[in-house]
Amino acid sequence: MTKDNTDSIFEILDIQDLSTEEQSLIQTAQEISEKAYAPYSNFQVGAAVKLSNGAILKSSNQENVSFPAGVCAEHLVLSYAGANYPESAPECLAIVARRKGEQSWANVSPCGICRQVINEVENRFKHKIKMLILREDGRVYSISGISALLPLKFDDLNS
Ligand code: THU
Repeated sequence: MTKDNTDSIFEILDIQDLSTEEQSLIQTAQEISEKAYAPYSNFQVGAAVKLSNGAILKSSNQENVSFPAGVCAEHLVLSYAGANYPESAPECLAIVARRKGEQSWANVSPCGICRQVINEVENRFKHKIKMLILREDGRVYSISGISALLPLKFDDLNS
C-alpha cells in the first residue's frame, strides 16, 4: 500500500480556541453572508480572507438564473484578492453559511471548483492557506492547506 504524502493538519476546534484575529475573521464572514445574492438556493455563504499585508477582504455567494454562472463566496473573494493584491499571499480563509431566515449556522464545505481555486492560490503564492470552516455545532474545522481537502490534486501541466 502506498500512503499519500499529505502533511496537512485537520482539526475541530471550539471557537474560543482560535486566536482573536481568527475569531474576528469568522465574524466578518458571518456579517458578509447576510449580503449573499442567493435567490435560488437560499444558502447564504460568507467568506473572509486575511492577506499577508494585513488586508481583510470578504465576499458572499452571487447566484445566477443560469446556475453554473453563479459564483461561490470563497471563489469570489480569492479572485478579488488576486486581482487587487497580487503581491500579498492569502493566509487565512474563513467560510460560513446559513439558510436564509434561519438563526443557526449551517454546515458548509468548499465545492470541488473552489478547492481547485484555493489550490491555485496556494501554488501562486507558494503559501498554504489556513481554512476555518464554521460547523453547525458551533465548532470550527481548522484545515492547514488544501491538500487535506484535495488529495491527488492537479497542479502541474508538465509532470
Ligand atoms: N456555495 C458557496 O458559496 N461556497 C461553498 O463553500 C458552498 C456552496 C454556494 C454556491 C451556491 O450559491 C449556494 O452556496 C448553494 O450551493
